[in-house]
Amino acid sequence: MNIEEISAKLSWLPPSAARFIEKRMKKIPAVKKMIAEENAKTIQVLEHSSKPYANKFEKHYSLPSSGISREIILDEITTMSNLESGRWKDGYVSGGIYHGDAEHIEFLNKVYALQSQSNPLHSDLFPSASKFEAEVISMVAHLHGKGKESHSKDVCGAITSGGTESILCAMKSYRDRAREERGITEPEMVVPVTAHAAFDKACQYFGIKQVKIPITADYKVDVQAAKRAINNNTIVIVGSAPTFPHGIIDPIKELSDLALKHNIGFHTDCCLGGFVLPFAEKLGYNIPMVDFRLPGVTSMSVDTHKYGYAAKGTSVVLYRDEELRHYQFFTCTDWPGGLYFSPTLAGSRPGALSASCWASLLTMGEEGYLRATKSIFETAAKIKEGVKAIPDVKILGEPDWILAFASDTVNIYEVLDLMGKKNWNLNGLHKPACFHIALTLRHTQPGVAERFISDLKECVAYVKANPGSKEGLAPVYGVAAALPFRGMISDILKSYLDVIYKV
Ligand SMILES: Cc1ncc(COP(=O)(O)O)c(C=O)c1O
Repeated sequence: MNIEEISAKLSWLPPSAARFIEKRMKKIPAVKKMIAEENAKTIQVLEHSSKPYANKFEKHYSLPSSGISREIILDEITTMSNLESGRWKDGYVSGGIYHGDAEHIEFLNKVYALQSQSNPLHSDLFPSASKFEAEVISMVAHLHGKGKESHSKDVCGAITSGGTESILCAMKSYRDRAREERGITEPEMVVPVTAHAAFDKACQYFGIKQVKIPITADYKVDVQAAKRAINNNTIVIVGSAPTFPHGIIDPIKELSDLALKHNIGFHTDCCLGGFVLPFAEKLGYNIPMVDFRLPGVTSMSVDTHKYGYAAKGTSVVLYRDEELRHYQFFTCTDWPGGLYFSPTLAGSRPGALSASCWASLLTMGEEGYLRATKSIFETAAKIKEGVKAIPDVKILGEPDWILAFASDTVNIYEVLDLMGKKNWNLNGLHKPACFHIALTLRHTQPGVAERFISDLKECVAYVKANPGSKEGLAPVYGVAAALPFRGMISDILKSYLDVIYKV
């Protein structure tokens, strides 16, 4: 029996039973051997796709005895950048590069170069970093309801390295606040199954129990189930605006009202929506309120490096007030290295990224973001309309601009593989099996939406006529979704990370 057959036979197992059986099975030599062989096969597929330069450039295992010339280095990097940029420039990539216009990138690069030595840890040396960061936080806070209501006048925040760090910071703050103010030593977080994996990471890192809440038929979290999950150890409820997998906005008002009633925190993960929803609302689209105008929302994550069109490496975590933000800050008063204090997980930080984030926000302005949002929503409408005419494929729920595709009749992962062969780089998802495209400014270029629709149509028709491909990643996705032994999947993912770090 191979892993695929085992998955099919045991997919009914509840997670705790699967974990128990897996632990036992891994001790049987024949099973251990089979797992090792399956892992090796999967890793080989992944290694092939992740190391295209293996035979193209010299490998450096240790320092060169004397320095290589700058020209050679620049040459190599230019070659690699050129090889890698065609796909995203032409709008074949889901998410990833959100603006991508050459002039915008060149401008941000100039700002980076001017500030490349700046480190916000040393605000005495670089007061400009403090100005840039404070103003970015203020601009983002005002986008999300600061001062709109009497209860939202004290919204404040911090700059982090990305959505994950913003979420980690917020979750740590809730854990520490609950311990300090309510004596909670076994904290729990109520989180939709569709919330980003960063919340799982926060739970692992900070010892918080995660209570996962299912979604309903519209791909929004089940509010009644969230209500039932709250107990005396609950420190925070989470909702996404929108979710990464299906691009759906959770019922943020209902969830945050629930949190308010129980006097616990509520976090809106607006990493994807932070620079889209406020502008879509202004443009007159039907967008629910998700920010600090709702009295129950106590923190938010908003990614400047996504639809804020800043360079990669910044996000903003917002808090309702400074009292809550204080639980995020770190101070060390007895270190021989002096009095130490830092706001986020890192110590030294790239001030240049904060500067280029500030520059992105200021040069885009409200008008720029309104224009960008309008064109992304119009592109989404075009694709939604086009997909209606493709039999065998459907969009999950009623998303705005992140569209997840599934099928009741063809293997959607085989469609995904074929789209890959047509140069598309889309996100494979599971539970349920689907893939998505997060539409960005790259997709608003003329002809891109039409190309997506016609490629999708062709790929679906091909899979319908030729089902059961054993090539590509489709079988890997299939097993990864169905195998009840999640430890095995986790082992494969760790091996994949080993591969990425292989020279
Ligand atoms: C909804 C949501 N939250 C959080 C994150 C994590 O952001 P990052 O990859 O910047 O850490 C993402 C990333 O795609 C996201 O879509």
